[in-house]
Amino acid sequence: MGDEMSVRQTSDQPDPTVFVIFGGAGDLTWRKLVPALFDLSQDRSLPADFAVLAVDRADLSDDQLRRRLHGGVKKFSRQGTGKAGKWGEFARHIRYQQGDFQKRPTYTALGERCAQLEKERGAKFHRIFYMATPPSMFGEIPKHLGQAGLARDREWARIVVEKPIGYDLASARALNAILAANFEESQIFRIDHYLGKETVQNILAFRFANPLFEPIWNRRYVDYVTITVAEDVGVGHRGGYYDQAGALRDMVQNHLMQLLCLVAMEPMVAFDADEIRNKKVDVLHAVRPIPRSAVPQCAVRGQYGRGTLHGKSVRGYRREDAVSPHSKTETFAALKLFVDNWRWQGVPFYLRTGKRLPRQFSEVAIRFRTVPHQAFPRETGRAWHPSRLVLSIQPEEGIIMGFQAKYPGPEMRLRPVEMRFAYRDSFAVASPDAYETLLWDVMNNDPTLFMRADQVEAAWRLLMPVLEVWAESRPRNFPNYAAGSCGPKAADELLARAGHAWRPIA
Ligand code: BG6
Repeated sequence: MGDEMSVRQTSDQPDPTVFVIFGGAGDLTWRKLVPALFDLSQDRSLPADFAVLAVDRADLSDDQLRRRLHGGVKKFSRQGTGKAGKWGEFARHIRYQQGDFQKRPTYTALGERCAQLEKERGAKFHRIFYMATPPSMFGEIPKHLGQAGLARDREWARIVVEKPIGYDLASARALNAILAANFEESQIFRIDHYLGKETVQNILAFRFANPLFEPIWNRRYVDYVTITVAEDVGVGHRGGYYDQAGALRDMVQNHLMQLLCLVAMEPMVAFDADEIRNKKVDVLHAVRPIPRSAVPQCAVRGQYGRGTLHGKSVRGYRREDAVSPHSKTETFAALKLFVDNWRWQGVPFYLRTGKRLPRQFSEVAIRFRTVPHQAFPRETGRAWHPSRLVLSIQPEEGIIMGFQAKYPGPEMRLRPVEMRFAYRDSFAVASPDAYETLLWDVMNNDPTLFMRADQVEAAWRLLMPVLEVWAESRPRNFPNYAAGSCGPKAADELLARAGHAWRPIA
């Protein structure tokens, strides 16, 4: 890969590092972690001295595990395994250790293997403990690591926690307390993979590296904001997990709240991890709490039924594998929030996410107010389209500015037009996968793109009334949207009541 295409420079190589992956034989390691590490290795962004120590219950040899992981790399890696030899070179860094995450000897053995690795290579290694396990293990592993003395080195030991961080506010607090009892906050990396996406990081660049937009980024100019994360996929093989979670826990508490924070936060004083995270938490603190009595007016839930998607008929959620046939779990959620501060007073932020919608697309749309005085005669524009800025997160990566322009001809006629910036046209480099960015940041001890304990808890606190009200009242109309449709009608009504509208999904 030539210099132009390499995402990072070799001089950025981190210190010797061992990734200890709990759940090393599991799906996340196969689908995301090892493909991302492989891609980093191809960009020469891994230290020359690195190792992957996969830990799991299964009885596997090093070679059996490597073969399995090779399949994942072939399928998911951005760069493919390319020429023969590339994989082999990478795979020799991978080792397997069988062990029960709940038993002390696993951790004693781990400590010994890490020490032996350092001895063989004659170097001290950063030890990154990655919990790619079911959430039920998230409280167990840090305790054992602490007891085994493996968390003690504040500089060299780190722990990575995947979402979901808790199931509700109380369990998130309990998990954060276990983590804090064994690790310093600076050693804890809570992953929200949305923060690793280029276009999500670009929200900060767009807002704070350009003088143009910040002056109008407030209640005087912005009418309302919509944040959409739409998926066409269903729950796939994750029905067991999803049926306990639902869209609010699975997507809104983390990914959509992160987007809200980035769009609504105040400018940071410096590009410093805690400074940025403080500004984000300020947003969550400013969000107007939703009283239980207001949940029906501020929140909409939906569940998909049978329908047609991309020309194929698909089953309803209740018929998915490992899902209860009477499930009341929501696969769609929409919220109307207000950020009660000087900048955003009175501006609604609408958030929505759902599965089995017509297509995959994520975006933030800022709808600006109309001009204060319409000097043009009414007939100049068939329909006035107030200016709109769309931060397009995926699958298109870019920014679209919609505004009014004069239609060519002798008369004064106005039409909405668009100016587009697309990543693929402007940059000759390929965007790394979010996990590449995040793993690289963990290696480099940069917590900017990770969730801090207080932020996670603030997001749960906001959602608790909705979760409670929804848990108590059985939705009588589920399923209330067909797979392949744009979600429940009530989600449109949530905006229509204020004369607002989502951007169309289909
Ligand atoms: C995960 C959710 O966090 O994000 C999944 O658990 C969801 O349910 C996924 O499908 C979406 O991620 P992406 O990167 O495909 O938008």
